[in-house]
Amino acid sequence: MARSIDSVAVLGGGTMGLGIAGACAQAGCDVLLLDVSKEAAEKSLDRIINGRPPAVDDPAAAERITLGTFDDDLEKIADYDWICEAIVEDLETKRALFDKLEPLRKDGSVVSTNTSGIPLRDITEGKPARLRQDIGVTHFFNPVKIMKLCEVIPGEDTTPEAIGALSAFIGGRLGKGVVNAKDTVNFIGNRIGCFWMLKGLHEARAARQAGLSMEYLDLLMNGPVGLPPTGLYGLIDLIGLDIMDLVGKNLDVNLPKDDAGRAYTSFPPEEQKMLAAGQLGRKTGGGFYKVTKLDDGSKKKETFDLDADGGAGAWREAKSETLLAAHEDMGTLMFNDDAAGKFAWNLMGGTLLYAADLVPQIADDVVNIDRAMRWGFAWQKGPFELLDALGPKKVIARLAAEGQPLPAMLKVLNDAGAESFYKDGKYLGRDGQYHDMPAE
Ligand SMILES: NC(=O)c1ccc[n+]([C@@H]2O[C@H](COP(=O)([O-])OP(=O)(O)OC[C@H]3O[C@@H](n4cnc5c(N)ncnc54)[C@H](O)[C@@H]3O)[C@@H](O)[C@H]2O)c1
Repeated sequence: MARSIDSVAVLGGGTMGLGIAGACAQAGCDVLLLDVSKEAAEKSLDRIINGRPPAVDDPAAAERITLGTFDDDLEKIADYDWICEAIVEDLETKRALFDKLEPLRKDGSVVSTNTSGIPLRDITEGKPARLRQDIGVTHFFNPVKIMKLCEVIPGEDTTPEAIGALSAFIGGRLGKGVVNAKDTVNFIGNRIGCFWMLKGLHEARAARQAGLSMEYLDLLMNGPVGLPPTGLYGLIDLIGLDIMDLVGKNLDVNLPKDDAGRAYTSFPPEEQKMLAAGQLGRKTGGGFYKVTKLDDGSKKKETFDLDADGGAGAWREAKSETLLAAHEDMGTLMFNDDAAGKFAWNLMGGTLLYAADLVPQIADDVVNIDRAMRWGFAWQKGPFELLDALGPKKVIARLAAEGQPLPAMLKVLNDAGAESFYKDGKYLGRDGQYHDMPAE
Protein backbone atom coordinates (compact mmCIF):
# COMPACT_ATOMS: atom_id res chain seq x y z
CA MET A 1 0.00 0.00 0.00
CA ALA A 2 1.44 3.41 -0.94
CA ARG A 3 2.19 5.53 2.10
CA SER A 4 2.40 9.26 2.33
CA ILE A 5 4.03 11.56 4.83
CA ASP A 6 2.35 14.73 6.02
CA SER A 7 3.62 15.05 9.56
CA VAL A 8 6.97 14.37 11.19
CA ALA A 9 8.17 13.60 14.71
CA VAL A 10 11.85 14.48 15.07
CA LEU A 11 13.57 12.88 18.05
CA GLY A 12 16.60 14.94 19.08
CA GLY A 13 16.89 18.64 18.34
CA GLY A 14 20.67 18.89 17.94
CA THR A 15 22.43 20.07 14.79
CA MET A 16 20.78 17.52 12.50
CA GLY A 17 17.41 17.23 14.25
CA LEU A 18 16.79 20.95 14.21
CA GLY A 19 17.77 21.12 10.54
CA ILE A 20 15.34 18.33 9.64
CA ALA A 21 12.56 19.77 11.83
CA GLY A 22 13.04 23.20 10.25
CA ALA A 23 12.99 21.79 6.70
CA CYS A 24 9.78 19.85 7.39
CA ALA A 25 8.06 22.83 9.02
CA GLN A 26 9.11 25.05 6.11
CA ALA A 27 7.59 22.46 3.76
CA GLY A 28 4.24 22.88 5.54
CA CYS A 29 4.25 19.79 7.78
CA ASP A 30 3.18 19.57 11.40
CA VAL A 31 6.33 18.73 13.35
CA LEU A 32 6.79 17.29 16.83
CA LEU A 33 10.29 17.98 18.15
CA LEU A 34 11.32 16.04 21.25
CA ASP A 35 14.56 16.28 23.21
CA VAL A 36 16.04 15.19 26.55
CA SER A 37 14.69 18.22 28.42
CA LYS A 38 12.37 21.18 27.95
CA GLU A 39 15.43 23.47 27.90
CA ALA A 40 17.12 21.43 25.17
CA ALA A 41 13.94 21.51 23.04
CA GLU A 42 13.54 25.27 23.51
CA LYS A 43 17.17 25.89 22.62
CA SER A 44 16.65 23.86 19.51
CA LEU A 45 13.63 25.94 18.45
CA ASP A 46 15.62 29.11 19.05
CA ARG A 47 18.37 27.81 16.73
CA ILE A 48 15.74 26.88 14.12
CA ILE A 49 14.57 30.51 14.02
CA ASN A 50 17.73 32.45 14.89
CA GLY A 51 20.60 30.13 13.98
CA ARG A 52 23.25 30.96 11.42
CA PRO A 53 21.80 29.97 9.05
CA PRO A 54 18.25 29.63 10.44
CA ALA A 55 16.65 26.26 9.63
CA VAL A 56 13.50 27.96 8.27
CA ASP A 57 13.26 30.72 5.66
CA ASP A 58 10.19 32.14 7.32
CA PRO A 59 10.04 32.31 11.14
CA ALA A 60 6.25 31.81 10.94
CA ALA A 61 6.89 28.28 9.65
CA ALA A 62 8.35 27.41 13.05
CA GLU A 63 4.85 27.80 14.52
CA ARG A 64 4.10 24.37 13.05
CA ILE A 65 6.61 22.86 15.49
CA THR A 66 5.36 21.43 18.80
CA LEU A 67 8.01 20.93 21.45
CA GLY A 68 8.24 18.19 24.05
CA THR A 69 10.51 15.81 25.94
CA PHE A 70 11.21 12.11 25.60
CA ASP A 71 10.02 11.49 29.16
CA ASP A 72 6.70 13.36 28.98
CA ASP A 73 5.63 13.38 25.34
CA LEU A 74 6.87 10.31 23.52
CA GLU A 75 3.33 8.87 23.15
CA LYS A 76 2.46 11.88 20.94
CA ILE A 77 4.41 10.24 18.10
CA ALA A 78 1.22 8.19 17.52
CA ASP A 79 -0.11 11.17 15.55
CA TYR A 80 2.84 11.44 13.15
CA ASP A 81 3.58 9.75 9.82
CA TRP A 82 7.41 9.81 9.92
CA ILE A 83 9.38 9.25 13.12
CA CYS A 84 12.88 10.60 12.46
CA GLU A 85 15.49 9.74 15.09
CA ALA A 86 18.41 12.19 15.24
CA ILE A 87 19.92 11.65 18.70
CA VAL A 88 23.56 11.09 19.67
CA GLU A 89 25.66 8.66 17.66
CA ASP A 90 25.59 5.84 20.20
CA LEU A 91 24.31 2.39 19.32
CA GLU A 92 22.81 1.44 22.66
CA THR A 93 21.16 4.85 23.16
CA LYS A 94 19.55 4.63 19.74
CA ARG A 95 18.46 1.00 20.29
CA ALA A 96 16.90 1.88 23.64
CA LEU A 97 14.91 4.74 22.10
CA PHE A 98 13.57 2.46 19.35
CA ASP A 99 12.40 -0.01 22.02
CA LYS A 100 10.42 2.78 23.66
CA LEU A 101 8.92 4.27 20.53
CA GLU A 102 7.98 1.11 18.64
CA PRO A 103 4.85 0.26 20.70
CA LEU A 104 3.69 3.90 20.55
CA ARG A 105 3.76 4.66 16.82
CA LYS A 106 0.77 4.02 14.57
CA ASP A 107 0.56 1.34 11.90
CA GLY A 108 1.64 2.69 8.54
CA SER A 109 4.08 5.21 9.97
CA VAL A 110 7.68 5.09 8.75
CA VAL A 111 10.77 5.39 10.89
CA SER A 112 14.31 6.50 10.17
CA THR A 113 17.62 6.90 11.94
CA ASN A 114 19.97 9.70 10.97
CA THR A 115 23.11 7.78 11.88
CA SER A 116 26.26 8.62 9.95
CA GLY A 117 28.26 5.56 10.84
CA ILE A 118 26.35 2.88 12.75
CA PRO A 119 25.17 0.01 10.53
CA LEU A 120 21.37 -0.14 10.39
CA ARG A 121 21.53 -3.91 10.92
CA ASP A 122 23.14 -3.29 14.33
CA ILE A 123 20.40 -0.84 15.32
CA THR A 124 17.57 -3.19 14.30
CA GLU A 125 19.10 -6.52 15.37
CA GLY A 126 16.52 -8.48 17.37
CA LYS A 127 13.88 -5.72 17.05
CA PRO A 128 10.22 -6.45 16.18
CA ALA A 129 9.42 -7.31 12.56
CA ARG A 130 7.14 -4.26 12.20
CA LEU A 131 10.02 -1.91 13.02
CA ARG A 132 12.45 -3.78 10.76
CA GLN A 133 10.00 -3.45 7.85
CA ASP A 134 9.27 0.24 8.40
CA ILE A 135 12.75 1.65 9.12
CA GLY A 136 15.52 3.05 6.93
CA VAL A 137 18.48 5.39 7.33
CA THR A 138 17.98 9.00 6.23
CA HIS A 139 21.50 10.41 6.11
CA PHE A 140 21.17 14.18 5.71
CA PHE A 141 24.23 16.41 5.43
CA ASN A 142 25.01 19.40 7.61
CA PRO A 143 23.65 22.08 7.40
CA VAL A 144 20.43 20.39 6.30
CA LYS A 145 19.04 23.63 4.91
CA ILE A 146 21.94 24.09 2.54
CA MET A 147 23.18 20.64 1.62
CA LYS A 148 21.22 18.99 -1.15
CA LEU A 149 22.19 15.38 -0.42
CA CYS A 150 20.19 12.88 1.59
CA GLU A 151 21.28 9.25 1.37
CA VAL A 152 18.37 6.86 1.92
CA ILE A 153 19.24 3.33 2.95
CA PRO A 154 16.94 0.36 3.43
CA GLY A 155 17.70 -2.48 5.83
CA GLU A 156 17.42 -6.14 4.91
CA ASP A 157 13.72 -6.28 5.82
CA THR A 158 12.62 -2.73 4.95
CA THR A 159 9.64 -2.80 2.59
CA PRO A 160 9.78 -0.93 -0.74
CA GLU A 161 6.67 0.99 0.41
CA ALA A 162 8.40 2.34 3.52
CA ILE A 163 11.63 3.32 1.75
CA GLY A 164 9.59 4.68 -1.17
CA ALA A 165 7.60 6.92 1.18
CA LEU A 166 10.79 8.33 2.73
CA SER A 167 12.45 8.92 -0.65
CA ALA A 168 9.33 10.51 -2.14
CA PHE A 169 8.87 12.89 0.80
CA ILE A 170 12.54 13.89 1.11
CA GLY A 171 13.07 14.22 -2.65
CA GLY A 172 9.67 15.80 -3.32
CA ARG A 173 8.34 17.86 -0.45
CA LEU A 174 11.75 18.67 1.09
CA GLY A 175 13.36 19.16 -2.33
CA LYS A 176 16.52 17.25 -1.43
CA GLY A 177 18.65 15.16 -3.77
CA VAL A 178 17.97 11.56 -2.75
CA VAL A 179 20.69 9.02 -3.38
CA ASN A 180 20.03 5.31 -2.95
CA ALA A 181 22.77 3.83 -0.81
CA LYS A 182 23.33 0.51 0.95
CA ASP A 183 23.85 -0.50 4.55
CA THR A 184 27.66 -0.35 4.33
CA VAL A 185 30.09 1.64 6.47
CA ASN A 186 29.78 5.42 5.91
CA PHE A 187 27.36 4.83 3.01
CA ILE A 188 28.46 6.58 -0.22
CA GLY A 189 29.51 10.20 0.31
CA ASN A 190 31.51 9.72 3.48
CA ARG A 191 32.98 6.41 2.32
CA ILE A 192 34.61 8.11 -0.67
CA GLY A 193 35.02 11.57 0.87
CA CYS A 194 36.73 10.27 4.02
CA PHE A 195 38.96 7.96 1.96
CA TRP A 196 40.03 11.05 0.02
CA MET A 197 40.69 13.07 3.20
CA LEU A 198 42.55 10.39 5.15
CA LYS A 199 44.59 9.22 2.17
CA GLY A 200 45.12 12.89 1.40
CA LEU A 201 47.00 13.48 4.65
CA HIS A 202 49.43 10.69 3.76
CA GLU A 203 49.88 11.67 0.10
CA ALA A 204 50.30 15.33 1.08
CA ARG A 205 53.10 14.38 3.47
CA ALA A 206 55.07 12.86 0.59
CA ALA A 207 54.30 15.89 -1.60
CA ARG A 208 55.51 18.32 1.11
CA GLN A 209 58.70 16.36 1.39
CA ALA A 210 59.08 16.83 -2.38
CA GLY A 211 58.91 20.61 -1.83
CA LEU A 212 55.25 21.57 -2.37
CA SER A 213 53.58 23.94 0.10
CA MET A 214 50.33 23.08 1.88
CA GLU A 215 48.64 26.00 0.13
CA TYR A 216 49.75 24.68 -3.27
CA LEU A 217 48.39 21.21 -2.52
CA ASP A 218 45.00 22.68 -1.62
CA LEU A 219 45.05 24.73 -4.81
CA LEU A 220 45.74 21.62 -6.92
CA MET A 221 42.55 19.97 -5.66
CA ASN A 222 40.48 23.06 -6.39
CA GLY A 223 41.16 24.67 -9.78
CA PRO A 224 42.18 21.68 -11.93
CA VAL A 225 40.19 18.94 -10.17
CA GLY A 226 37.08 20.95 -9.27
CA LEU A 227 36.85 20.29 -5.56
CA PRO A 228 35.79 23.17 -3.25
CA PRO A 229 38.36 25.94 -2.52
CA THR A 230 39.02 24.53 0.96
CA GLY A 231 41.08 21.79 -0.72
CA LEU A 232 42.39 19.13 1.63
CA TYR A 233 43.76 20.93 4.69
CA GLY A 234 41.08 23.62 4.62
CA LEU A 235 38.31 21.00 4.60
CA ILE A 236 39.79 19.05 7.50
CA ASP A 237 40.10 22.33 9.44
CA LEU A 238 36.37 22.78 8.92
CA ILE A 239 35.46 19.25 10.04
CA GLY A 240 37.97 18.96 12.89
CA LEU A 241 40.87 16.55 13.37
CA ASP A 242 39.03 14.95 16.33
CA ILE A 243 36.07 14.01 14.09
CA MET A 244 38.45 12.68 11.42
CA ASP A 245 40.20 10.60 14.07
CA LEU A 246 36.84 9.05 15.10
CA VAL A 247 35.99 8.43 11.45
CA GLY A 248 39.31 6.62 11.01
CA LYS A 249 38.68 4.46 14.07
CA ASN A 250 35.18 3.54 12.89
CA LEU A 251 36.55 2.66 9.45
CA ASP A 252 39.20 0.51 11.08
CA VAL A 253 36.47 -1.56 12.74
CA ASN A 254 33.95 -1.66 9.91
CA LEU A 255 35.78 -1.58 6.56
CA PRO A 256 35.94 -4.89 4.70
CA LYS A 257 39.20 -6.73 5.40
CA ASP A 258 40.73 -6.12 1.95
CA ASP A 259 39.54 -2.50 1.55
CA ALA A 260 42.11 -0.03 0.21
CA GLY A 261 41.02 2.48 2.88
CA ARG A 262 42.52 0.32 5.63
CA ALA A 263 45.97 1.77 4.86
CA TYR A 264 44.83 5.25 5.91
CA THR A 265 42.70 4.87 9.04
CA SER A 266 45.28 6.56 11.27
CA PHE A 267 47.00 9.92 10.86
CA PRO A 268 50.62 10.56 9.81
CA PRO A 269 52.88 11.59 12.76
CA GLU A 270 52.47 15.37 12.26
CA GLU A 271 48.66 15.25 12.46
CA GLN A 272 48.84 12.89 15.43
CA LYS A 273 50.86 15.55 17.25
CA MET A 274 48.28 18.20 16.39
CA LEU A 275 45.48 15.97 17.69
CA ALA A 276 47.32 15.31 20.95
CA ALA A 277 47.91 19.06 21.36
CA GLY A 278 44.22 19.86 20.79
CA GLN A 279 44.95 21.85 17.62
CA LEU A 280 41.87 20.52 15.87
CA GLY A 281 40.80 23.10 13.31
CA ARG A 282 38.55 26.14 13.13
CA LYS A 283 36.69 25.18 16.31
CA THR A 284 39.89 25.49 18.35
CA GLY A 285 40.93 28.75 16.73
CA GLY A 286 43.17 27.15 14.12
CA GLY A 287 44.34 23.82 12.76
CA PHE A 288 46.36 23.82 9.55
CA TYR A 289 45.33 27.42 8.93
CA LYS A 290 44.47 30.29 11.23
CA VAL A 291 42.89 33.66 10.51
CA THR A 292 43.33 36.40 13.13
CA LYS A 293 41.51 39.73 13.08
CA LEU A 294 43.96 42.55 13.79
CA ASP A 295 43.24 45.79 15.67
CA ASP A 296 43.07 47.77 12.41
CA GLY A 297 40.30 45.44 11.15
CA SER A 298 42.52 43.59 8.67
CA LYS A 299 42.96 39.82 8.73
CA LYS A 300 46.20 37.93 9.23
CA LYS A 301 46.33 34.50 7.60
CA GLU A 302 48.80 31.94 8.88
CA THR A 303 49.68 28.38 8.01
CA PHE A 304 50.88 25.75 10.46
CA ASP A 305 53.97 24.49 8.64
CA LEU A 306 53.86 20.82 9.60
CA ASP A 307 57.50 20.21 8.74
CA ALA A 308 59.05 23.22 10.49
CA ASP A 309 61.36 22.75 13.48
CA GLY A 310 62.23 19.19 12.59
CA GLY A 311 58.59 18.07 12.38
CA ALA A 312 57.39 19.86 15.53
CA GLY A 313 55.54 22.36 13.31
CA ALA A 314 55.36 26.16 13.55
CA TRP A 315 53.09 28.98 12.40
CA ARG A 316 54.22 31.07 9.45
CA GLU A 317 52.64 33.67 7.22
CA ALA A 318 50.27 32.09 4.66
CA LYS A 319 51.60 31.95 1.10
CA SER A 320 49.57 33.17 -1.83
CA GLU A 321 50.29 30.51 -4.43
CA THR A 322 49.50 30.49 -8.18
CA LEU A 323 49.28 27.32 -10.24
CA LEU A 324 51.96 26.66 -12.82
CA ALA A 325 50.59 26.41 -16.38
CA ALA A 326 51.42 22.68 -16.45
CA HIS A 327 49.14 22.14 -13.46
CA GLU A 328 46.08 24.08 -14.58
CA ASP A 329 44.39 21.33 -16.54
CA MET A 330 43.45 18.13 -14.70
CA GLY A 331 44.36 15.82 -17.60
CA THR A 332 47.82 17.36 -18.03
CA LEU A 333 48.39 17.55 -14.28
CA MET A 334 47.53 13.94 -13.50
CA PHE A 335 49.76 12.58 -16.23
CA ASN A 336 52.64 14.89 -15.33
CA ASP A 337 55.62 13.16 -13.73
CA ASP A 338 56.55 15.98 -11.33
CA ALA A 339 55.69 16.14 -7.61
CA ALA A 340 52.36 17.92 -8.22
CA GLY A 341 51.37 15.38 -10.87
CA LYS A 342 52.27 12.47 -8.61
CA PHE A 343 50.28 13.99 -5.73
CA ALA A 344 47.23 14.59 -7.93
CA TRP A 345 47.39 11.11 -9.46
CA ASN A 346 48.00 9.31 -6.18
CA LEU A 347 45.30 11.18 -4.29
CA MET A 348 42.62 12.04 -6.82
CA GLY A 349 43.38 9.23 -9.24
CA GLY A 350 43.53 6.83 -6.29
CA THR A 351 40.15 8.05 -5.05
CA LEU A 352 38.56 7.64 -8.49
CA LEU A 353 39.89 4.08 -8.71
CA TYR A 354 38.61 3.39 -5.19
CA ALA A 355 35.13 4.63 -6.16
CA ALA A 356 35.22 2.59 -9.36
CA ASP A 357 35.79 -0.55 -7.32
CA LEU A 358 32.85 0.12 -4.95
CA VAL A 359 30.06 -0.69 -7.43
CA PRO A 360 27.98 -2.65 -6.51
CA GLN A 361 29.25 -2.78 -2.91
CA ILE A 362 28.01 0.70 -1.90
CA ALA A 363 25.68 1.63 -4.78
CA ASP A 364 24.15 -0.17 -7.73
CA ASP A 365 25.27 2.34 -10.32
CA VAL A 366 27.71 5.15 -11.10
CA VAL A 367 24.98 7.80 -11.04
CA ASN A 368 24.25 7.46 -7.33
CA ILE A 369 27.97 7.75 -6.56
CA ASP A 370 28.47 10.82 -8.75
CA ARG A 371 25.41 12.54 -7.27
CA ALA A 372 26.51 11.78 -3.71
CA MET A 373 29.88 13.46 -4.26
CA ARG A 374 28.43 16.47 -6.08
CA TRP A 375 25.54 17.03 -3.66
CA GLY A 376 27.26 16.05 -0.41
CA PHE A 377 30.86 17.22 -0.93
CA ALA A 378 30.29 19.94 -3.55
CA TRP A 379 32.61 18.34 -6.09
CA GLN A 380 32.00 19.92 -9.50
CA LYS A 381 32.07 16.47 -11.04
CA GLY A 382 31.54 13.06 -9.46
CA PRO A 383 34.20 10.30 -9.67
CA PHE A 384 32.87 8.76 -12.90
CA GLU A 385 32.38 12.15 -14.53
CA LEU A 386 36.00 12.91 -13.59
CA LEU A 387 37.12 9.60 -15.09
CA ASP A 388 35.26 10.53 -18.27
CA ALA A 389 37.05 13.89 -18.29
CA LEU A 390 40.42 12.13 -17.92
CA GLY A 391 39.58 9.52 -20.53
CA PRO A 392 38.88 6.05 -19.09
CA LYS A 393 40.96 4.37 -21.83
CA LYS A 394 43.95 6.50 -20.88
CA VAL A 395 43.51 5.54 -17.23
CA ILE A 396 43.16 1.86 -18.16
CA ALA A 397 46.35 2.03 -20.25
CA ARG A 398 48.22 3.57 -17.33
CA LEU A 399 47.02 0.89 -14.92
CA ALA A 400 48.03 -1.81 -17.41
CA ALA A 401 51.48 -0.24 -17.80
CA GLU A 402 51.87 -0.15 -14.02
CA GLY A 403 50.68 -3.76 -13.70
CA GLN A 404 47.69 -2.75 -11.56
CA PRO A 405 44.33 -4.57 -11.66
CA LEU A 406 41.31 -2.79 -13.12
CA PRO A 407 38.69 -1.65 -10.58
CA ALA A 408 35.25 -3.17 -11.15
CA MET A 409 33.61 -0.42 -13.21
CA LEU A 410 36.68 0.21 -15.38
CA LYS A 411 36.67 -3.51 -16.12
CA VAL A 412 32.99 -3.31 -17.11
CA LEU A 413 33.79 -0.38 -19.41
CA ASN A 414 36.80 -2.14 -20.90
CA ASP A 415 34.97 -5.44 -21.47
CA ALA A 416 32.05 -3.61 -23.08
CA GLY A 417 34.42 -1.77 -25.45
CA ALA A 418 32.89 1.49 -24.17
CA GLU A 419 34.71 4.83 -24.14
CA SER A 420 32.95 6.61 -21.29
CA PHE A 421 30.62 6.15 -18.32
CA TYR A 422 28.11 8.63 -19.72
CA LYS A 423 26.99 8.85 -23.33
CA ASP A 424 24.08 10.65 -25.01
CA GLY A 425 22.48 11.41 -21.64
CA LYS A 426 22.67 7.77 -20.50
CA TYR A 427 24.94 5.98 -18.02
CA LEU A 428 26.91 2.76 -18.32
CA GLY A 429 25.42 0.01 -16.15
CA ARG A 430 27.14 -3.00 -14.64
CA ASP A 431 25.78 -5.04 -17.55
CA GLY A 432 27.92 -3.02 -19.97
CA GLN A 433 24.82 -1.36 -21.52
CA TYR A 434 23.81 2.30 -21.44
CA HIS A 435 20.66 3.08 -19.42
CA ASP A 436 18.36 6.07 -18.99
CA MET A 437 19.31 8.30 -16.09
CA PRO A 438 17.27 7.78 -12.90
CA ALA A 439 15.10 10.79 -12.00
CA GLU A 440 16.72 13.32 -9.66
N1 LIG B 1 26.55 16.71 12.60
C1 LIG B 1 26.69 16.16 11.41
O1 LIG B 1 27.40 16.68 10.53
C2 LIG B 1 25.95 14.89 11.08
C3 LIG B 1 25.74 14.57 9.74
C4 LIG B 1 24.99 13.44 9.42
C5 LIG B 1 24.52 12.63 10.43
N2 LIG B 1 24.78 12.94 11.74
C6 LIG B 1 24.20 12.03 12.76
O2 LIG B 1 23.01 12.63 13.25
C7 LIG B 1 22.81 12.24 14.61
C8 LIG B 1 22.71 13.50 15.46
O3 LIG B 1 23.90 14.24 15.31
P1 LIG B 1 23.99 15.79 15.67
O4 LIG B 1 25.17 16.31 14.96
O5 LIG B 1 22.68 16.44 15.46
O6 LIG B 1 24.33 15.70 17.23
P2 LIG B 1 24.12 16.80 18.36
O7 LIG B 1 25.14 16.51 19.40
O8 LIG B 1 24.05 18.16 17.79
O9 LIG B 1 22.67 16.45 18.93
C9 LIG B 1 22.44 15.27 19.64
C10 LIG B 1 21.00 15.20 20.14
O10 LIG B 1 20.87 14.02 20.94
C11 LIG B 1 20.31 14.39 22.21
N3 LIG B 1 20.83 13.48 23.22
C12 LIG B 1 21.99 13.55 23.88
N4 LIG B 1 22.13 12.52 24.74
C13 LIG B 1 21.00 11.77 24.60
C14 LIG B 1 20.53 10.57 25.19
N5 LIG B 1 21.26 9.92 26.09
N6 LIG B 1 19.34 10.10 24.81
C15 LIG B 1 18.60 10.72 23.87
N7 LIG B 1 18.99 11.86 23.28
C16 LIG B 1 20.18 12.38 23.63
C17 LIG B 1 20.75 15.83 22.42
O11 LIG B 1 19.96 16.49 23.37
C18 LIG B 1 20.61 16.38 21.01
O12 LIG B 1 19.26 16.70 20.74
C19 LIG B 1 24.00 11.37 14.99
O13 LIG B 1 23.65 10.01 14.81
C20 LIG B 1 25.07 11.81 13.98
O14 LIG B 1 26.02 10.80 13.75
C21 LIG B 1 25.46 14.06 12.09
